[in-house]
Amino acid sequence: MLHTACIMKTKRAAETLAVTTKVVLPNDTNQLGNLFGGQLLAWMDEIAAVSAHRHCRRVVVTVAINNVAFKSPIKLGDIVTLEAKVSRSFTSSMEIFIDVFVEDRITGVKTKSNEAIYNFVAVDQNGSPIEVPELVPESDDEKKRYDGALRRRQLSLIIAGKMKPDDATELKALFSH
Ligand SMILES: CC(C)(COP(=O)(O)OP(=O)(O)OC[C@H]1O[C@@H](n2cnc3c(N)ncnc32)[C@H](O)[C@@H]1OP(=O)(O)O)[C@@H](O)C(=O)NCCC(=O)NCCS
Repeated sequence: MLHTACIMKTKRAAETLAVTTKVVLPNDTNQLGNLFGGQLLAWMDEIAAVSAHRHCRRVVVTVAINNVAFKSPIKLGDIVTLEAKVSRSFTSSMEIFIDVFVEDRITGVKTKSNEAIYNFVAVDQNGSPIEVPELVPESDDEKKRYDGALRRRQLSLIIAGKMKPDDATELKALFSH
């Protein structure tokens, strides 16, 4: 059952930004000396939770992880920056994008190495879903991610067995164009 928060309002996407920087230490690596994928997932989960919390100021839990791609290896000693921002909120759930950058130690130039999409749900003291504020996208990137969030949500719910493909109107529209 969904409980309604007392004070509901909108939140700008920029207000949900959460950033953290990590150094890859020996304990974080696999046999090849590259960052262990599970460690990166944990870092992304943590910063995504901070972003989701900034959006709703409630306790948040991870409900689904979608579209994690490990494009290039991150090496021992690398400086890694993770940026998380809510791309869209629904009733109790929020979609969060995490962009991961690796910093060149000599030039300081940051190159994007990974991207992931996490879904969180705000819960009350009993662990029941609770309403979250509406998200307002402002920049072009925020609007683009906001616009795609509904079809990603539908895909995630179908994969989780929580939505019938016939009900996924946004996804259907994508294929009929
Ligand atoms: C998250 C949780 C509170 C949801 O409770 P629930 O009774 O299943 O609630 P619902 O099915 O109504 O889902 C709640 C919201 O999550 C969304 N959701 C559920 N599964 C989803 C999925 N696979 N992908 C995207 N969104 C999903 C629903 O669409 C709903 O969103 P809305 O309120 O914005 O419309 C409950 O499943 C839970 O406690 N899970 C464990 C969370 C946890 O421990 N995470 C850490 C993992 S170790």
